[in-house]
Amino acid sequence: MSNLSQKRIILGVTGGIAAYKAAEVCSALVKLGACVHVVMTEHATRFVGPVTFRALTSQAVITGLWEEPQEHRITHVSLPESADLVLVAPATANIIGKLAAGIADDMLSTMLLATTAPVLIAPAMNCNMWANNQVQENVNRLKSLGYTFIEPEEGRLACGEEGAGRLASPETIVHAVEASLFPLNDFEGTTVLITAGPTEEAIDPVRFITNRSSGKMGYAIARAAKERGAKVILISGPVSLPAPPGVELVSVRSAAEMLSAVQCRLPQAQVVIGAAAVADYTLKNPGKNKIKKTGGNLTLELAPTADIMAEAGETKGDKLLVGFAAETENLIENAQKKLKKKHLDIIVANDVSKPGIGFGADYNQVSIIDNTGAEPLPRMPKAEVAHAILDRIKKLLGGKAKRRC
Ligand code: PMT
Repeated sequence: MSNLSQKRIILGVTGGIAAYKAAEVCSALVKLGACVHVVMTEHATRFVGPVTFRALTSQAVITGLWEEPQEHRITHVSLPESADLVLVAPATANIIGKLAAGIADDMLSTMLLATTAPVLIAPAMNCNMWANNQVQENVNRLKSLGYTFIEPEEGRLACGEEGAGRLASPETIVHAVEASLFPLNDFEGTTVLITAGPTEEAIDPVRFITNRSSGKMGYAIARAAKERGAKVILISGPVSLPAPPGVELVSVRSAAEMLSAVQCRLPQAQVVIGAAAVADYTLKNPGKNKIKKTGGNLTLELAPTADIMAEAGETKGDKLLVGFAAETENLIENAQKKLKKKHLDIIVANDVSKPGIGFGADYNQVSIIDNTGAEPLPRMPKAEVAHAILDRIKKLLGGKAKRRC
């Protein structure tokens, strides 16, 4: 637990049923010593009264552009300028959309544009709203601009539906605030090479064989490693995610292109993490022109691709290699076989048979395996899985986590 006594935090509260949980977050931040200024949207005041936050923070609560209290001479510019961090919890689809579009039509949205402090956004909304393409596009755009999201949790929502959209727990939110204010810097000086996403193996100029990888797991690791001070090289198959800020992105299509991109950059890396779902087979003779429909069956001859992580394992030297094992049966046993066969130091066993985790999902449930045994982790957002993997890597590298204070 950190001491936040020198820290000034703006807590933006927007209008959703989860607004009452912001009081718990606010109370926890105040207990840690932070000076918290609460800014509520008009809709938020329909769910919780400003007097609650005033009592918790001993500060005036700002609820509108034109109702700014005089006594502390805070303006929509001077408050965000002096803040160490801005946290929006809960964040509705509306405030996320406004920020993504650069709209400033109330006190909170104005402050969000005026601040130069790190901004953490903890969304909470109905699961269909959270899954909506427009909302996800806004989220991705904001992530690519450097905003940090505290992913919503899955579960029963206030509307009675089940799904992702519930505000992260107050503990998770406070932990994210601490991590942002005192970032771990334990990968400074380390170059981490990560493969992510699927590969595409051409059948002809218009068709290809691929798989269901979205790149979310690999990109989460890239983001987490960057946050912890690493130089990150992200070698990615075709995905629709923005590259995390500050990482070197190398875009590839096929397994062969991924292999050559990895081989080319391998000498620079001390840690290699294979989160990509690389095709195990490629077309022996892809068509030069579009294959015509003949009415009969079509037989495609497939040839095995090179195993990128296994090749890296052959010449690993003192590099630390981490693979994933995507399995639908005998998870731990099959993962342990891959650990040995590919000369890896760690393998992340990923059960991809269950809905809601693994391919395409925002959550994952994995076991981290090394020579000392297997550590099963609970189901959690991929960002948290990423940090757990990096923690294990750090342990093997023999370093101690140091916080930048
Ligand atoms: O991208 P997401 O939608 O977020 O989904 C995440 C994920 C399920 C893809 C990811 O968590 C995962 O499990 N990645 C590994 C998928 C895979 O191909 O597993 P595998 O068991 O077939 O391969 C074992 C290891 O060898 C992996 O590290 C893989 O990257 C590597 N490999 C495999 C084949 C090959 N030709 N070259 C390789 O390097």
